[in-house]
Amino acid sequence: MKAYYDARAPEYDDWWLAQGLHAAAPNDWKEERDELVDFLRVLPPKRTLDVACGTGFLTRHLAGEVVGLDQSARMLALAGRYVEVIQGNGAALPFDDDAFERVFTSHFYGHLEDDHRARFLAEARRVAPELVVVDAALHGGSERAEWQERELNDGSRWQVYKRFFSPEGLLRELGGGETLFAGQWFVVVRAP
Ligand SMILES: C[S@@+](CC[C@H](N)C(=O)[O-])C[C@H]1O[C@@H](n2cnc3c(N)ncnc32)[C@H](O)[C@@H]1O
Repeated sequence: MKAYYDARAPEYDDWWLAQGLHAAAPNDWKEERDELVDFLRVLPPKRTLDVACGTGFLTRHLAGEVVGLDQSARMLALAGRYVEVIQGNGAALPFDDDAFERVFTSHFYGHLEDDHRARFLAEARRVAPELVVVDAALHGGSERAEWQERELNDGSRWQVYKRFFSPEGLLRELGGGETLFAGQWFVVVRAP
């Protein structure tokens, strides 16, 4: 995952913007993306750590004091236009206990395999009392988990592990909490 996202950084926002290789995204996906952004904009402001912030496409809409963390220097070069950034591993966060009020993470949890998942959750809970997870919704036709073959603009091909979630399924894994956004394409939950 590390090399893939580093290579993808300059073209990553093409996915959010539904352009380039992602231009075929359906209109209802684009509409829901805009609804997701509008929803995130009005989350109560908090001192937030965005784990695996990528280019900062969503990070920049979070209210409050926000720090973005990612493993990829190329992603951080882009996210750094909007927020303070730090290079690091989501499974070993370089912060003291309770350093933040909220950990936010988008389209990261669903890429983690079992052992990494548990480590990330333990770390998220160590550094903040609240965890907000945005991820891909389970919808008609999508498998719960799959290895996807993905292509970048240079024609390179990558295998990426990816899971899809119902809000209930995600909350069960996180041990409870509440659904904040339940769309056809995106889910957002908040867990203690
Ligand atoms: C699908 S992108 C999501 C980016 C952003 N959160 C968003 O929703 O647009 C996954 C991100 O996770 C980062 N990443 C992958 N493994 C990581 C790890 N162990 N620690 C920190 N970041 C990681 C990648 O560099 C990439 O930026």
